[in-house]
Amino acid sequence: DWNMPDYISEAVEKIRAQVGTDDVILGLSGGVDSSVAAALIHRAIGDQLTCVFVDHGLLRLNEGKMVMDMFANNLGVKVIRVDAEDQFMGHLAGVSDPEQKRKIIGREFVEVFDKESGKLVNAKWLAQGTIYPDVIESAGKGKKGQTIKSHHNVGGLPEHMKLSLLEPLRELFKDEVRKLGVALGLPHDMVYRHPFPGPGLGVRILGEVKKEYADLLRQADAIFIEELRNTPYEATIVPGFDQDAVPKNWYDATSQAFAVFLPVKSVGVMGDGRTYEYVVALRAVQTQDFMTAHWAHLPHSLLGKVSNRIINEVRGINRVVYDISGKPPATIEWE
Ligand code: XMP
Repeated sequence: DWNMPDYISEAVEKIRAQVGTDDVILGLSGGVDSSVAAALIHRAIGDQLTCVFVDHGLLRLNEGKMVMDMFANNLGVKVIRVDAEDQFMGHLAGVSDPEQKRKIIGREFVEVFDKESGKLVNAKWLAQGTIYPDVIESAGKGKKGQTIKSHHNVGGLPEHMKLSLLEPLRELFKDEVRKLGVALGLPHDMVYRHPFPGPGLGVRILGEVKKEYADLLRQADAIFIEELRNTPYEATIVPGFDQDAVPKNWYDATSQAFAVFLPVKSVGVMGDGRTYEYVVALRAVQTQDFMTAHWAHLPHSLLGKVSNRIINEVRGINRVVYDISGKPPATIEWE
């Protein structure tokens, strides 16, 4: 149980000693681990760090803007944002098999990242947000579709670069990474976010991925997340129970929550007219380890409000359903 300011100064000294005056590249995904790694390394070496943020067009609503605001504008971190939406959509066109989609997204990601990194000719280090559970896991078998982690071999980068790995979070558990992030000045809400898969909305749009579908899904998903955050979690607090451990709202009371786009149309009615539009499924789970999960018993009033808002606000969606499948036998993601 270490003291956070002491931990930060130790970690900062260690990074400085390791890299000296060399330049460092980091792939920023917007997730907790790479964000905390970026904030820590920036604290240590400032402008010697350059982050590469690949927007594959399968991110959540306003995600790219949020990442740029937080890192480039607020923290003053050097971030190169690569808008690769067209490239990804182009390669995904006509592909509906889930594993094939994952492979394409992973491959294109490495391509784009390597191409950008290759321009940073003075870089000697590749930083990653590897945390202790990843170290344990990669001693066993790898996680599916871990795109940035496939850089362990740094195979695709130009030969002259010969990057060494910098992994300042290697000894930390997730809860320690979060505390570190807050201590480094990252916003609480960003550090306590639900996990988001590397292939992003690509595995939440069933079958073929299209920009039109991604745009509808982003809007529906943002409404769901906003309502989860805005709905208080009413729990009866047992005397003596740690009040800080009680979630304040339904976002914090769930482990992962998101919308899924179903490319099927059903009939609806709006005003005097008949509609024929797409379906969105809502998924919210509670889990300790993501290996097994229960569907969250969200209040009916919350589900009703989310459904009304999605159908009224998202043109192109006229039906919302709630996923009540556990894992196993279902998985958390639909693909
Ligand atoms: P499943 O769907 O297998 O998901 O029950 C378990 C956890 O893993 C996440 N997940 C992924 N993360 N790349 C990732 O980085 C992937 O391809 C991937 N697939 C699933 C999922 O969001 C959940 O947290």
